[in-house]
Amino acid sequence: MTTGTMIILDLLAGVLAAGGWLGAGAAAASGRRRLTLGLAVAALLATLARAGTTVALARAGWWFAGEKVLIGGPLSLAAVVAAGLRRGPVTLLFAGYASSAAVLVTVLHGYPASASAGLLAAAGVAGVTLVSWRLLGGRTPRAAVGGAVAALVAGTGLAVAPGAAPATPHRHEFAATPAAGAPDQRITLTAGTTTVRLGGHDVAAWAFNGQVPGPPITATVGDLLEVTLRNRDIGRGVTLHWHGYDVPNSQDGVPGVTQAAVLPGQQFVYRFRADQPGTYWYHTHEASDVGVRMGLYGVLVVRPAPVTGVDVTVPVHTLAGNALPAATTERVAAGTPVRLRLINTDSTTHRYALAGAPFRVAAIDGADLQGPTPLSDTAVLIPAGGRYDLTFTAPATPVALFADGRAVYSTRPVSTATGSWPVLDPLAYGVAPAAAPLPRPDREFTLVLDRGLDLRGLLPRYAHTVNGAAYPDIPDEVVHLGETVEFTIVNRSLAIHPWHLHGHHVLVLSRDGVPATGSPLWLDSFDVRPGEVWKVAFRADNPGMWANHCHNLPHADAGMMLHLRYS
Ligand code: C2O
Ligand code: CU
Repeated sequence: MTTGTMIILDLLAGVLAAGGWLGAGAAAASGRRRLTLGLAVAALLATLARAGTTVALARAGWWFAGEKVLIGGPLSLAAVVAAGLRRGPVTLLFAGYASSAAVLVTVLHGYPASASAGLLAAAGVAGVTLVSWRLLGGRTPRAAVGGAVAALVAGTGLAVAPGAAPATPHRHEFAATPAAGAPDQRITLTAGTTTVRLGGHDVAAWAFNGQVPGPPITATVGDLLEVTLRNRDIGRGVTLHWHGYDVPNSQDGVPGVTQAAVLPGQQFVYRFRADQPGTYWYHTHEASDVGVRMGLYGVLVVRPAPVTGVDVTVPVHTLAGNALPAATTERVAAGTPVRLRLINTDSTTHRYALAGAPFRVAAIDGADLQGPTPLSDTAVLIPAGGRYDLTFTAPATPVALFADGRAVYSTRPVSTATGSWPVLDPLAYGVAPAAAPLPRPDREFTLVLDRGLDLRGLLPRYAHTVNGAAYPDIPDEVVHLGETVEFTIVNRSLAIHPWHLHGHHVLVLSRDGVPATGSPLWLDSFDVRPGEVWKVAFRADNPGMWANHCHNLPHADAGMMLHLRYS
């Protein structure tokens, strides 16, 4: 069973327990004894089940079993003890409130577990219990009222005490250092609203030069690129971010950090040298959730010269429910070397399968793998923003690439069922290096990805959070040039978070405590699944202020974004 499933079972048990106790309390209040007993027994079983899921989660290495033991556990225990002492309506209702609070703390509060959350939960439970007691005609003891008020005051005091609020991030302007000299390529991308014809329908889109995806940018290693971005009529503004391309900070295209958004009628010129070969893409970073989804993206491929064989780029995207690109079929002579560059430009993971020939995963996120072995009847999962290069030698028989079961590229139309194929684990693929590619870390950061109530704005919102805070309240990660930096990224939530750091590729060290054993994996986008713990490291060698965020772009928009800053 995956940790994600266990988390769901745990929540389910919590909800059943709370519902059972509350129902039993209501039944007792209306004098229905058999129903009371039945519901109380069901609630007890659900509470025991939740104790079981807590132990199972702890044993599976789930980081957050501790908060259950500290807050949820005592509340559930109080529920059971109270119900055991007396099966009157008030004690059963108390058990219901305590179990509900245990679930609410799990869902709303999150990480890190704090004394203030525990006290506030206890005060809430005591408060509603006392109100119920009164309503059922009882006399509430003074001491209980006093205790509830004390817990409320102490909990609130701890929550608002100075020191709880993170330091406000500073904005720094880094010197513009675009590459100088005569460009090898001059490209103009004009962003504008348009309609594109898809599956027989006109679909509203935002596009570069009127096309979705935008014009492909293909360069040869060493080229100096000069790209002029113009905005015709995208009211929210646009920028160009070179996803996975470790450009100088001033060219990174993050509005409010490295430049201002380009508004209608304005332009911005990007210049950088294409000195990393590989498969990348570009997209707007202003209002990126809607902007990328609506079509403001394109591919960036840097090839070593000269290219031999067939080299095809397959950027997969969903535009208004239509899957792009349309299936293409191209005749390829047997014996030809083929490279398929798969790019996931959506916000969720896609599953790809290549049928008809043994293939290798030659590169991930633009970086070549060491010693990739041939694979067949194996699927790959590409995270949002990620890229895989698959290589094979064309056989005389047809070869087809499927994305989520849909043929996107083939040398002759074939249909193959690939849904049951096993999925490649890139952490155990290829050949490990003789020596560790990075020295021991000089600096470490922990990022706990979660959902939680964000109360810092004018209106409370249920945000996607990092270490309990949402953008712009997540403190910057501050590093020094030349350091080796380690991130521990932990997913406490129920969603997959494709983590993405700008300006750097990170080396995967381990997942759930199991070290990576294959080729060094230098990634810029990787899926952190519910309950998973990833350790990655990178060399702080590209000064500036860099976005570090979830590439499920609605999540980034809802708070899951912070900055890495060089001091
Ligand atoms: Cu592809 Cu900050 O993004
Ligand atoms: Cu996310």
